[in-house]
Amino acid sequence: MNDPRQAPWDGLIVGVSLATLDGHGGYGEIGDAALGWRDGTIVHAGPRSALPADPNALSGAVVDAGGGWITPGLVDCHTHLVFAGDRAAEFEQRLQGADYEEIARNGGGILSSVRAVREADEEALLAQSLPRARALVADGVTTLEIKSGYGLDFDGERKMLRVARRIGDELGIGVFTTYLAAHALPPEYAGRADAYIDAVIEWLPRLHAEGLVDAVDAFAERIGFDIAQTRRVFEAARTLGLPVKLHADQLSDGAGAALVAEFGGLSADHVEYTSDAGVRAMAEAGTVAVLLPGAFHVLRETRLPPLDAFRAHRVPMAVATDCNPGTSPLLSLRQAMQLACTHFRLTPEEALRGTTVNAARALGRDDRGVLRPGTRADFVHWAIARPAELCYWLGGRLASAVYAGGNRVA
Ligand code: NIG
Ligand code: FE
Repeated sequence: MNDPRQAPWDGLIVGVSLATLDGHGGYGEIGDAALGWRDGTIVHAGPRSALPADPNALSGAVVDAGGGWITPGLVDCHTHLVFAGDRAAEFEQRLQGADYEEIARNGGGILSSVRAVREADEEALLAQSLPRARALVADGVTTLEIKSGYGLDFDGERKMLRVARRIGDELGIGVFTTYLAAHALPPEYAGRADAYIDAVIEWLPRLHAEGLVDAVDAFAERIGFDIAQTRRVFEAARTLGLPVKLHADQLSDGAGAALVAEFGGLSADHVEYTSDAGVRAMAEAGTVAVLLPGAFHVLRETRLPPLDAFRAHRVPMAVATDCNPGTSPLLSLRQAMQLACTHFRLTPEEALRGTTVNAARALGRDDRGVLRPGTRADFVHWAIARPAELCYWLGGRLASAVYAGGNRVA
């Protein structure tokens, strides 16, 4: 027989409001609430009055938070945070008038990060990347997607993906890895893009066999790869049963969103130039639109993603940092939410949905992104009076405690 005084939870927080994000509209707000978890899973997310017993009469940890809000742990569903060096010099060049595409065509841009990653060994790459992941976690992130794409050879891509996995282990958070070898053409393949795609397709099953690949991505763009090449990469992913996503229609309408939808992809990301046909294809396929306002902001873009069409066709919208050394050196997902509200006029509720439930969906996960019994005990306690504050403040520290899988991680 269980000891009747033994609490049915490992931890219980009372004296807070919850934004559960459970259900279709609103924040899923619950005042005077309690959140309990056991063995890494939420067991109670509801009114304090609905607890099975008076918590104070039971043994087991009970914390009175004394106010504030708890949201699901934030999910950053698009990052390139494993890299070496920085591209501050390129930032300065752009401020002098140089253009991102022009810098890339002259061998800078992504390729300058490729040189730095190739030179760094695995330990150095981990040491440089961990503080970025820590910064994201400190501001509420409990699940991170991390892409390869600065190695562009077998060993370099493998090194990046291994570092991504190690970040998850080191910080106790969820990390999903994405194979993005089709990010740029490495110099040794200059003029031979199709031969490079052959190599990308050959490396994929080998890295997958090492457990290093959760999804496959490509950069479909004038300075990336064309639709036929992207399609070949997606076919290779499909053979292995791996989900796909795409850097689509960022700088021009290359029909990338429609292609990723055709493959039943998880997400089309950037999507500033996505056409109405692309939006409709996404809606039919259930493909999430991942908005990356950090890159939009840093590149001083003016072309807005088709937000009203996404809303009209009920395409779920996610928001991510796109943390990368070139176009979005952004170390706070909350700041990305702020930029999404300011530049794209998302409502704070859409922005929070975009970094929780919809971002989890962009990773193909329904075990997180909401506060509901049975989902992972990933949650953040915020020192705020209302959820809109998460998008209102620029900078600062609002997260007072961050839990992943029921363990305190920040
Ligand atoms: O999402 N567009 C391609 N990839 C990144 C930029 C990578 C870089 O410039 O290093 C992006 O913006
Ligand atoms: Fe990106």
